[in-house]
Amino acid sequence: MLDRFYRYIAKPMLFRLDAEAVHHMILTILSHTPSMAPWPDPPALNLNLWGIGFSNPIGLAAGMDKDAVAVHAWHSLGFGFAELGTVTPRPQPGNPGPRLFRLQDRGALINRLGFPGEGMEAVAQRLTRLRRARVPIRLGINLGPNKDTPPEAVAADYGALMNRLGGSADFIVINVSSPNTPGLRNWQSPERMREIYAALTGARTTTRPPILIKLAPDLERTELLKICDTAVELGFDGIVATNTTLRRKELGIKTDYEGGLSGRPLLELVRGIIADIYCHTGGRIPIVGVGGIGSAEDAYGHIRAGASMVELYTGLIYEGPGLVAAIKVGLAGLLRRDGFGSISEAIGTAARS
Ligand SMILES: Cc1cc2nc3c(=O)[nH]c(=O)nc-3n(C[C@H](O)[C@H](O)[C@H](O)COP(=O)(O)O)c2cc1C
Repeated sequence: MLDRFYRYIAKPMLFRLDAEAVHHMILTILSHTPSMAPWPDPPALNLNLWGIGFSNPIGLAAGMDKDAVAVHAWHSLGFGFAELGTVTPRPQPGNPGPRLFRLQDRGALINRLGFPGEGMEAVAQRLTRLRRARVPIRLGINLGPNKDTPPEAVAADYGALMNRLGGSADFIVINVSSPNTPGLRNWQSPERMREIYAALTGARTTTRPPILIKLAPDLERTELLKICDTAVELGFDGIVATNTTLRRKELGIKTDYEGGLSGRPLLELVRGIIADIYCHTGGRIPIVGVGGIGSAEDAYGHIRAGASMVELYTGLIYEGPGLVAAIKVGLAGLLRRDGFGSISEAIGTAARS
């Protein structure tokens, strides 16, 4: 019902309007919508990671709710967790517009937003209010430096963000992979990861949440695997694979829009990266798989390739708000079909065979 309304009525109207204007409109509506309890998740979808219970492994990817304005809505839609952010230390406007584009025939988006946001103080205050309201959804917070932070102060930005927000998060994601902040992807190197990790673990938080690192899909394979080794060695708690891509030709995309590409064309690329990381690390570090998910089969494929949990963004724009519930029902059916009693049993089973 919700699916049909979205596909035949809402989407055709929304897709006539500017993509970023629609984004803000929907977020405003969601932030004012009363909270509703979703259907309870089937026990087969429950999982435990880092000692934290998740009622299902489907999460909202970073970028949708940068300033934590609609957290209760992500719970109502049935997500098991939401990754908020990217949050920067100070507020910033992001890049000049237009900066978000649809490639409709490919089920894709291109964005070059550049972390627009209200900054960590506003987000911290909002999260404190939410904690008082006890919104029952697991929260990741994705951290990034300000655009005008000089390279020698980037690690300190991550430290400051951890200080202010670490206590409000179930897990933290270090974003070193957005293509829209100049120089940021250079931080995906073993030496610089050490610097960031030292800044994060030196932060004065009362509790230290699990720390994940989010990687780009454009790393050369040996470089990617070296970075994963460093993540394991330093003690990172997980890898988010992946952010948006700068690739075009290899994916058969013809467009002049600059920025990070997301959505359906990423699916196979990301699936291969998840499997590579899983096989290389022997499953020693949990992977959160993100890229191209638009159905239960897509989510299941990422999990079977080695992801412990998955996230989505662009699929939600193309398939609508019923997608999360549809994925959960489908996923439970796929687990049953293949004789798995739980998500944990299915993780990495395609990568190993
Ligand atoms: C409009 C837009 C904004 C995004 N902003 C962020 C961001 O601030 N931080 C981040 O780590 N990833 C960001 N992403 C990347 C997504 O979190 C995700 O990694 C990527 O879109 C692939 O997933 P998808 O194919 O399901 O969209 C953004 C993606 C989109 C489409």
